[in-house]
Amino acid sequence: MAQWTSAVGAAQLARLLKSQQHRPAGPGTRRLPAYRALADGIRLLVLEGRVPVAARLPAERELAMVLTVSRTTVAAAYEALRTEGFLESRRGAGSWTVVPAGNPLPARGLEPLPPEALGSMIDLGTAALPAPEPWLTRAVQGALEELPPYAHTHGDYPAGLPALRSMIAERYTTRGIPTMPEQIMVTTGAMGAIDAICHLFGGRGERIAVESPSYANILQLMREAGARLVPVAMAEGLAGWDLDRWRQVLREAAPRIAYVVADFHNPTGALADEDQRRRLVEAARSAGTVLVVDETMSELYLEPDLEMPRRVCGFDPAGSTVITVGSASKAFWAGMRIGWVRAAPDVIRSLVAARAYADLGTPVLEQLAVNWLFTTGGWEEAVEICRGQARDNRDALVAAVRRELPAWEFEVPSGGLTLWVRTGGLSGSRLAEAGERVGVRVPSGPRFGVDGAFEGYVRLPFTVAGAVAEEAAIRLSAAAHLVETGSPAGNETPRTFVA
Ligand SMILES: Cc1ncc(COP(=O)(O)O)c(C=O)c1O
Repeated sequence: MAQWTSAVGAAQLARLLKSQQHRPAGPGTRRLPAYRALADGIRLLVLEGRVPVAARLPAERELAMVLTVSRTTVAAAYEALRTEGFLESRRGAGSWTVVPAGNPLPARGLEPLPPEALGSMIDLGTAALPAPEPWLTRAVQGALEELPPYAHTHGDYPAGLPALRSMIAERYTTRGIPTMPEQIMVTTGAMGAIDAICHLFGGRGERIAVESPSYANILQLMREAGARLVPVAMAEGLAGWDLDRWRQVLREAAPRIAYVVADFHNPTGALADEDQRRRLVEAARSAGTVLVVDETMSELYLEPDLEMPRRVCGFDPAGSTVITVGSASKAFWAGMRIGWVRAAPDVIRSLVAARAYADLGTPVLEQLAVNWLFTTGGWEEAVEICRGQARDNRDALVAAVRRELPAWEFEVPSGGLTLWVRTGGLSGSRLAEAGERVGVRVPSGPRFGVDGAFEGYVRLPFTVAGAVAEEAAIRLSAAAHLVETGSPAGNETPRTFVA
């Protein structure tokens, strides 16, 4: 019986392989035999999750034709993959991808590793900061004091605790966007919010317009919901949203949803100005598209004199077009798992129903803790600590990368948690792989793209300080050297780091 659950066509595989070709042929570069390069390319695609595990690969003859190589080359590549444990074949059933036993992947760099599994590895996978103590402890203590009356209830609040819904609504109102508690649903992180939104609007076969690049985990969530992603290219650097392009895509593809991160976009760090915000809302409204605005990063402005533009929902306060998603994960702590949605009351009611079979509700104690922070003013002080940390980390990382990797290009964002780096022509996927061998985990650009885009990029988060940032850049430079010189896999030991 065949062991595959999906298939990758020859043309699709060729496109994915082509997107990896970012290796400069310089003087120190060793040319790999064609079969080896092909096997490496397929292995990387599997490790990054861009070719799923248990996907049937094209027949040798078919792939050879599309790649214009000999059938012997493809046969040798498949044989090498079989030997390395990445492919299984059965006569009559074809060949399908597998991941060797003991391999912790299939996707590199973005999944947080528990600290005890890291060893001497520097983890640049996750863009989230430690909790801004003592505020986490204080908030949990405050929550414990508020808990007794709730302990007498069933504890199920699918729309969120009324007190927290009111508090979040009030915070929008104070910002000049009148909001009622009925317009708020508390969720399990922004991910929980987007999951409910996808359930309601973005089911199988629906189109969702997304920035290209965009936040990898949300892209994957949408793919898994069965949506068809319609990428809209971000302009170079921090220029962000090209509104003529958005208008055209929304008009022509008429997607059900458009998903944007207008405040310190992940991964580029771009910040939409008021004109871009107004025009995004107008474009969505005239296309009949629901504009989902993810404000997860919005409080992480890192320049003291930066004046933040009006929130996108300020251009559609009644919520006829815009659904806003917020989160405590970046401004406070991802371990809280508290997020929220602001939308029209009828949309909130449908979203509450849509999330019911996913997680029923969000933990009461954590909701009380965030509510405590909002009501006591501890939130502002805590966020200020996070901003300071992110700013220092950003500055250390920027200086270290400029020094160690002068050919890498990026623009320094005024907020958020990520640096989107063009890697001087090197393949981001290969850098991610080489990074694991020299002790630094880094997510490659294609994780943030649709269909293999952004092979020439990596994302670096502002999560490590001073000396660790310097060491991270040194290791990235070692990884770049490995990629440039084409050294064989497997015999580099990670450097030991002592902070
Ligand atoms: C833009 C964006 N949205 C959502 C999330 C996930 O948020 P949460 O931890 O609240 O689920 C992240 C985390 O990195 C993010 O960057």
